[in-house]
Amino acid sequence: MAQQVQGVIAPGKNEPVRVETIVIPDPGPGEAVVKIQACGVCHTDLHYKQGGINDDFPFLLGHEAAGIVESVGEGVTDVEPGDFVVLNWRAVCGQCRACLRGRPWYCFNTHNARQRMTLLDGTELSPALGIGAFAEKTLVAAGQCTKVDPEVSPAVAGLLGCGVMAGIGAAINTGEVGRGDSVAVIGCGGVGDAAVVGARLAGAAKIIAVDIDDRKLDMAKKMGATHTVNSRATDPVEAIRSLTGGNGADVVIEAVGRPETYKQAFYARDLAGTVVLVGVPTPELQIELPMIDVFGRGGSLKSSWYGDCLPSRDFPMLIDLHQQGRIDLGAFVTETIGLGDIEQAFTRMHGGDVLRSVVVF
Ligand code: APR
Ligand code: ZN
Ligand code: ZN
Repeated sequence: MAQQVQGVIAPGKNEPVRVETIVIPDPGPGEAVVKIQACGVCHTDLHYKQGGINDDFPFLLGHEAAGIVESVGEGVTDVEPGDFVVLNWRAVCGQCRACLRGRPWYCFNTHNARQRMTLLDGTELSPALGIGAFAEKTLVAAGQCTKVDPEVSPAVAGLLGCGVMAGIGAAINTGEVGRGDSVAVIGCGGVGDAAVVGARLAGAAKIIAVDIDDRKLDMAKKMGATHTVNSRATDPVEAIRSLTGGNGADVVIEAVGRPETYKQAFYARDLAGTVVLVGVPTPELQIELPMIDVFGRGGSLKSSWYGDCLPSRDFPMLIDLHQQGRIDLGAFVTETIGLGDIEQAFTRMHGGDVLRSVVVF
């Protein structure tokens, strides 16, 4: 039987979000209904509301979530009702060329639930990143559910579904930060701070945090940065070079998505170093670089998609490390809020006041 729950939708471009009654169908083959316990507020939710992703309004927002599987459809064997799970954006196919080569984060046959959730009048909703978890319950593909230790706080677990995984994964998966490496992180919001945590976890000797906001640099220090650079006051490329014996960092992680910071990342790496781009640019942005620099600098230039994560491997591992006290994912939760507070949470996020507001149910 289809059921009705409360959820937060973005009705149209730049219109305020609002709480509505959502109709959730029973899970079909390969699908699951998940009772949401916590869901973080991410920039991408704001981008949906602003029409920056696509025009498929109305959106059911929310995508950094953890909860309990309530029911599963035909053929679902990996999760069962009662399992505590973290949701990921897309279920990978396991069969395409990328999956078979062991790089499922590049899977080009990913899928979400096939059925649609709707409003009471039948209007179909577009769930943010195929999740839609600013709702008491949501419908997803079963492969979007990763079982994790149920002892962890849902507010912490949910964060792994997006920004925190993107940042930690940029350091440990894409950047392959090694013991003793020097790492620079440009842009220390939630994603950059998570990259700092990842670099520390990987045993980096130096972690240089760069931002234009001193409040962000203070936070990065709490997360494990060993040095901070305010790039409004100091040229970050020079600062990173001088902190690394004139060489540049072994790994530079860019977590802003602007032309100037892409360039800084490019020039702040050691000749044999790695640049990891996590910051997502808007489509119109361009950078220009002298070809001689592109050729003449060795190392590698990589972009990191969702931290190149494998949810089944990385979510439980990071939760274990958190439970052991070896990383503190709780530090990313600035505040917990209710479903009715999301519009204000966007305002605070925009002002740089919070790392993450997390809706708890
Ligand atoms: N130089 C350095 N830091 C900058 C600059 C700049 N020119 N401009 C902005 N910043 C800093 C901000 O002060 C802020 O601390 O970058 C940080 C961006 O953080 P958030 O806005 O909180 O964004 P976050 O959620 O961390 O995501 C960062 O990664 O995955 C992507 O889509 C995401 O592109 C976004 C980026
Ligand atoms: Zn997100
Ligand atoms: Zn695939």
